[in-house]
Amino acid sequence: MAPSATAEFDALKPTPHGADNTNNIEGLDPKFTANVINAIGPKASPRVRQVFSSMIQHIHDFARENQITVDEWMQGVQLMNWAGKMSDEKRNEGQLVCDVLGLESLVDAITFKLASQAGDTATASAILGPFFRHDAPLLENESSIVHGVDDGEVTYMHGRVIDMKTNKPIANAYIDVWQASTNGLYEQQDENQVEHNLRGKFKTDADGRYAYYCLRPTPYPVPNDGPAGKILELLDRHPMRPAHIHLIVVAEGYKPVTTQIFDRIDPHLTDDSVFAVKDSLIVDFVPIKNNPKATLELEYNIALVPN
Ligand code: BEZ
Ligand code: FE
Repeated sequence: MAPSATAEFDALKPTPHGADNTNNIEGLDPKFTANVINAIGPKASPRVRQVFSSMIQHIHDFARENQITVDEWMQGVQLMNWAGKMSDEKRNEGQLVCDVLGLESLVDAITFKLASQAGDTATASAILGPFFRHDAPLLENESSIVHGVDDGEVTYMHGRVIDMKTNKPIANAYIDVWQASTNGLYEQQDENQVEHNLRGKFKTDADGRYAYYCLRPTPYPVPNDGPAGKILELLDRHPMRPAHIHLIVVAEGYKPVTTQIFDRIDPHLTDDSVFAVKDSLIVDFVPIKNNPKATLELEYNIALVPN
């Protein structure tokens, strides 16, 4: 009988995982992966044992299934080293590589699911991204985070932080907000922006209210001059993120939420380069009346899950 067109490939197909958890391919040691996993010592914690056993199994299966060669593996190693060398306190290229592969969004979804007996009424989370700074200034409500940007649409963003179960206002919650400027850069990427431009921290009042002026966000490309950009190029993908504003909200007695809100009119909502968009986080910017400081308004309430 003539060999089937796929015979060569079929011969390489891994057998389903057997009781000894091997993924056998003819000519390779069927016990190899089990030996590596079994080398984990007795003092490894149960979680470390579980995660590393699984990672070794998957990474070995991946190498076998794709017949990864030494040259290809070395390209991957060099890419990781490149990411390390490019990273510093202003740039986290390792995180960016994970982002374009969807990994940060996936672990965010897993974490949110685990944390949320929350139900649908809690504000959903979204990835942190690499541009958060811990030292944003605490600002008065009604103040502006916009400095020296004259081509943006100033937005009066306000709302309340509430308890997702009772809908009661949460006083003394802190909202950290940050966004990119109209040139697509966060202030730490751009020496022409003043320190802490377009970021700030606000505290809710006794009614759970916060308010500040920010920009209607604009879409921007994730940095693509390093390994993350190389991956995007290899995969024939663009680097654009839909327009968004980042938020972290914390309050005593509640689970903190890290999230992003997205402008409904953005054309990249359906092809975010880091896969972070969730329907419940899409918002509408509307024209504002009788406010000389802004042309748009965004009312946005944030519902937190009690501990
Ligand atoms: C951001 O939204 O700031 C971001 C997220 C992931 C990768 C790059 C940037
Ligand atoms: Fe961002």
